[in-house]
Amino acid sequence: MGEKKYVDVQEESSVGSPVWVACPWRERIGVLRFESEEGVMEMRECRLFIDGKWTGASSQDTFETTNPATEEVLARCAAGNEEDVSKAVDAAVKSFADWKRVPAPKRGEIILRAASLLRQRKKSLGEMVTREMGKVIAEGEGEVQEAIDFLEYIAGEGRRMLGETTTSELPNKKCMTVRQPVGIVGCITPWNFPLAVPSWKLGAALIAGNTIVFKPSSLTPLCAAALVEIFQEAGLPPGVLNMVTGAAQTVGQAIVEGERIRAVSFTGGVEAGREIYSRASKKLKRVALELGSKNPLIVMDDADIALALEGILFGAFGTSGQRCTATSRVLVHEKVYAEVMDELVRRTRGLRVGDPLDPSVDMGPVCGREQELKILNYIDMGVKEGARLICGGRKLTKGDYGRGFFIEPTIFEATHGLRITKEEIFGPVLSVIKVGSYEEAIAVANDVDFGLSSSIYTRDINRAYRAIDDLETGITYINAPTIGAEVHLPFGGVKNTGNGAREAGSASIGEFTEVKAVFIDYSGRLQKAQIEG
Ligand code: UN1
Repeated sequence: MGEKKYVDVQEESSVGSPVWVACPWRERIGVLRFESEEGVMEMRECRLFIDGKWTGASSQDTFETTNPATEEVLARCAAGNEEDVSKAVDAAVKSFADWKRVPAPKRGEIILRAASLLRQRKKSLGEMVTREMGKVIAEGEGEVQEAIDFLEYIAGEGRRMLGETTTSELPNKKCMTVRQPVGIVGCITPWNFPLAVPSWKLGAALIAGNTIVFKPSSLTPLCAAALVEIFQEAGLPPGVLNMVTGAAQTVGQAIVEGERIRAVSFTGGVEAGREIYSRASKKLKRVALELGSKNPLIVMDDADIALALEGILFGAFGTSGQRCTATSRVLVHEKVYAEVMDELVRRTRGLRVGDPLDPSVDMGPVCGREQELKILNYIDMGVKEGARLICGGRKLTKGDYGRGFFIEPTIFEATHGLRITKEEIFGPVLSVIKVGSYEEAIAVANDVDFGLSSSIYTRDINRAYRAIDDLETGITYINAPTIGAEVHLPFGGVKNTGNGAREAGSASIGEFTEVKAVFIDYSGRLQKAQIEG
């Protein structure tokens, strides 16, 4: 499949060799047929969605999306560029005037229909998430559920969209605030939650009356396209939601720098976030960032140890550790350290790694070659900087693991301060650190550049409440792991985890609306605020 060009016309035509046979399908997933030495071959293709139509990229370039468990190519996808973004923005601009006038509860009805389509297709979409991203099937379906939950929640926001009414310093005058859409917004989403995170951003932007240019991760375009198709089926007017798949350097940059896009919402890595923030801020755009983290889970000496162990395993190795909220550091009180460590290692060694579609498997692959390399480099680094590798640490290669990106669940015994204890690895690699007291645990927990999620296991209610105050993160769990945030609460973090933005929950309305202050003077005369009265 070296040849990248294809022809998107009704009739048969050829571009170079092999000969690409025309692709007459007009749906999201067409089939590309081409003739090669082995005969006519077929490949699925995923397209851009602009102004209500599925279309090839203007350059005709494509890229592949693969299954990280098998390395099988799932589809070839249109690789958009600046020109495609510009067309998407044209469509978004054109549709904005009408869409913003649709009453928010009516916009909510479309979103609710999308939620119900997701519910109908939960099983097949869950499988798609698992095939394209690699998380185990229970999590794949759980992710679809997260998208349903959020869309149902945000559809209801259409009937709130609350403002304030307040008094005036002058008689016969009222003051209030109303919410208005920001305008054309850019949503750039990651591969680790290829349905749920797009649903947070798209759902919130839509209910608020914005129109959208959406760029999903190039590792998971099929999941993104399935969501867009569902919105289309639910009745979203053409041009309101446009999807341009393609590279960060072209599509992403055009969204971030495009003059007509007023806000950018990004979830992804910290370096990309920094770059986006600085470029978009030059254009004085609104930017919402949800970036990395290094989430601590504290086990105090009075904790329910069995419960804590379950939480650690799920928090650290769920989604192969590829969550912004993943438990990547466990800080264990010295009095229970040996007990926790022994049992944790025993149970980690017992985790089944393998085909994520098999319901008995505990952990699937990591999402791709680049990700795998980064994680293995961190494991190497941990060993070199003197952390003790207690279990795991290797890429699995034999037998069924011959293809795919499988890494053993890995535990290091580490001292705080090593790079593996401070940098985000985004993989199944856990550092366990011994602490002598609650105060030390909090100091270590907070001594990182990130602050998304944190957790403490303790039976002391006073200590639990103190931890809520003391842990410097946007989310804190008591007696539960660092993952699994519910969508009706705000999601986001402090420090380098972002720029203070929160998404999900009612906070997401703030992300996608402008607040207008309105003064209504019904006195029938000129009243001068600050001067008379
Ligand atoms: C992410 O990792 O970017 O709280 C999102 C959780 C999920 C969302 C994670 N509900 O782990």
